[in-house]
Amino acid sequence: MVAETHNLTKHWQALDAAHHVHPFTDTAALNAEGVRVITKADGVYLWDSNGNKIIDGMSGLWCVQVGYGNSELAEAGCEALSVLPYYNHFFKTSNPYTIELAAKLATLLPDGHTHVLFANSGSEANDTALKLIRYYWNLKGRPEKKIHLSRELAYHGVTFAAASLSGLTPMHPQWDLPLPGFAKVPAPYWFGAEAAGYGDATPEEFGLLVAHKLEDKILELGPDNVASFSAEPVQGAGGLIFPPHSYWPEVQRICAKYDVLLHADEVITGFGRTGEWFGCQTYAIEPDIISMAKGLSSGYQPISAVSLGPRMADTLLNANEEMVHGYTYSGHPVACAVALRNLEVIERLGLVARVKNSIGPYLQQRLREAFQEHALVGEVRGEGLLAAIELVPHKGVREFFPEVGQVGTHCRNYCFSSGLISRAIRDTMVLAPPLTATESEVEEIVMKLKSAIDRTAHDFGRI
Ligand SMILES: Cc1ncc(COP(=O)(O)O)c(C=O)c1O
Repeated sequence: MVAETHNLTKHWQALDAAHHVHPFTDTAALNAEGVRVITKADGVYLWDSNGNKIIDGMSGLWCVQVGYGNSELAEAGCEALSVLPYYNHFFKTSNPYTIELAAKLATLLPDGHTHVLFANSGSEANDTALKLIRYYWNLKGRPEKKIHLSRELAYHGVTFAAASLSGLTPMHPQWDLPLPGFAKVPAPYWFGAEAAGYGDATPEEFGLLVAHKLEDKILELGPDNVASFSAEPVQGAGGLIFPPHSYWPEVQRICAKYDVLLHADEVITGFGRTGEWFGCQTYAIEPDIISMAKGLSSGYQPISAVSLGPRMADTLLNANEEMVHGYTYSGHPVACAVALRNLEVIERLGLVARVKNSIGPYLQQRLREAFQEHALVGEVRGEGLLAAIELVPHKGVREFFPEVGQVGTHCRNYCFSSGLISRAIRDTMVLAPPLTATESEVEEIVMKLKSAIDRTAHDFGRI
């Protein structure tokens, strides 16, 4: 049996190496090592082809809100596959699954977001959002408003526009990006503030200082030229950056003052992750346009959406001309059926309130108990079921390791080998478990991470 699984694993590894190119991967290095093959999943657990059981502290890629193996979602998908496996929304047609999903979203989204367009991924949603922003200003007779602002360390996806919007600089040189018309402002990353030259400003002072950098950039480029500011309510792939409380109200004020559209990228923060349906609700942000994906279907189907606030909806939907945009799979009936059932499950199980009132606070408390005093840990931060543990060379000082990513990767490898999926972003360990995780599963995640951080500290001479 063991030999059989070993042979199967080798077989799949060889085929994968021969034919499959992975996202964000050094192909030669991966092929030399051999890929891990995941064969099944249930609840918060995954199993690989060697039979190892792994607890998924990341909900896949921050997306599996209801956990794996939810039979209701599977049934919804099977039903739609047999009833209406495909039809499109071009040529004056629609279908019940898409209609019901759009209507359901309108009840959950921030006030005034009554209309949605569908796409298939977060990148496509952001690409669509930027096109709609351009179209809006063109319809308003202000075609010079073209520059899209976003933040350093932002992750908005990989299409030409979404990658241009992203502020993780390694995403750019291979593709000659960013495109013209994109500019960046600093992220509200308080832990990195001292290293970035902001001195010892308190988080709230720093939040205002960074918001004012947005204002400076708008004035530098000319308010008449700036179309939009795009931002994740909490920056995810950039290292889980939670803005100080002073930040968002000031950003909102600045965008209103200079007539800059506010685009919220809720691809990670949507669907309960921060303890409200949307991160905008947690941080009292009133965006003009929102992108969402991931948790919309708990990752069970590729689907994303863009919602329009009142100002954009009024203009775009009353343009009295064809809006020349849409995908073959916009509002795919199977994806919509699964997403709709997913939202019903999240609602029925009270998962959003659970993140806010019980399992979210539990995770945050347990992480603080386990790591606040740890010699290798500079900060534990989090909101809802998003959490980050910053590994540092000198406790008590907001300073990073000189060789960025080395310690984090080392720790991540210990997590993997002990059956925990956590992710290292630079030297920050991050967690985003499914919204269904129980206290004992959270405890297992915390304990496995503790063991990995202890071993890392030992290897780097810190305990
Ligand atoms: C905030 C945010 N926006 C956009 C994306 C891109 O989504 P996708 O990978 O579905 O294109 C991601 C993916 O992680 C994300 O975290």
